[in-house]
Amino acid sequence: MFEKLQPLAPDAIIGIMALFRQDQDPRKVDLSVGVYQDETGNTPVMACVKRAEQAIFAAQTTKTYVGIAGNAGFNSGMEQLLLGDSHAALADGRIATVQSPGGSGGLCVAGHLIHRATPDARVWLPTPSWPNHFPLLSLAGLELGQYPYYDQAAHAIDFDAMTACFESLGARDIVLLHGCCHNPCGADLTREQWDLLAEIFARRGVTAFVDFAYQGLAEGVDEDAYGARLMAERLPEAVIVGSCSKNFGLYRERVGSVSIVSQTAEASRVVATNLSSVARGIYSMPPDHGAAIVERVLNDPELRALWIDELGEVRNRINGLRQLLVAKLAERDVPRDFSFIGNERGMFSFLGITKEQVVRLREEFHVYMLESSRINLAGINDRNADYVADSIVAVL
Ligand SMILES: Cc1ncc(COP(=O)(O)O)c(C=O)c1O
Repeated sequence: MFEKLQPLAPDAIIGIMALFRQDQDPRKVDLSVGVYQDETGNTPVMACVKRAEQAIFAAQTTKTYVGIAGNAGFNSGMEQLLLGDSHAALADGRIATVQSPGGSGGLCVAGHLIHRATPDARVWLPTPSWPNHFPLLSLAGLELGQYPYYDQAAHAIDFDAMTACFESLGARDIVLLHGCCHNPCGADLTREQWDLLAEIFARRGVTAFVDFAYQGLAEGVDEDAYGARLMAERLPEAVIVGSCSKNFGLYRERVGSVSIVSQTAEASRVVATNLSSVARGIYSMPPDHGAAIVERVLNDPELRALWIDELGEVRNRINGLRQLLVAKLAERDVPRDFSFIGNERGMFSFLGITKEQVVRLREEFHVYMLESSRINLAGINDRNADYVADSIVAVL
């Protein structure tokens, strides 16, 4: 049965990680990984998470299933986190949420639900986007399109090209937007741009699909939600996928959510039954532990305050590293303006150098990044910042 399968090349990032591990040079720097790292290069467990875990272990009396939609307290906590306490969709009972195995699981459930509701729906992804969007959504049977987003030469969003594309869309189209901290380019929409997109989508009957994997890592938990909240307010329907991998540091626990905002409470009840049935058909029940942690952190005022502080530290460190790298490069009198890195948000940016320069950085200077020149700013620290800047200048 399986003899016709062809071997596949391993993921490019896995290959780069393997090369990094083999590299014995003490100066080596890893800017390729997709996870947050602290000053020591560790991806830490947050203190609020540790405290919530201890309370959960002490109180837990069963390991029976959590139910198809997952942890109800987690789901309502996520709805409030994503939309804010006073959003009309919450007050009107027009939002349905299921807990999912990570944001990836949420994207997968959303994809299958969209396909079930509208088999000829087209989902539009930005160019570039997180590579996993393609398999996650196309495996659901959806037709995918790509809209222009980041202009590599200008190091900026090509908003005119983007809106020109959206002006040609209609009621069977659903546009995926990164809520904040765009992966891989780091260039986020301004509030004015979100406003304009909401106006176009409302006028043309286009549905918004917000992939919100980095809430709190750009400007703040509420500030980052501007676009998601706006779309859920201005449009009759919206899809919002949340992830707790980055903002709670719960990567391996697989915690995420998928929420559908509907036009009426009645429609929302129908959506809820379908969300559960789609989830049931894919993985039956979500895992318990990570969502139990998030539920506790969000609903315990002391733990929530601690989380907000810890998340603020993560965000400030990343934004500080952006400024540090820009300053270190400017100090070296490079023939190029890297100030765009300081204006972008989240962990990722494209350096905007060639593939050959990326390879030289790896082979001669032991500085690792993706072939596209995407770097994870969190791999920089006080000890390696000068070395990274010197190495980049050397290959320019
Ligand atoms: C844009 C984007 N969406 C979704 C995810 C999903 O993350 P997870 O499945 O780990 O929650 C990621 C993770 O890197 C991402 O970058």
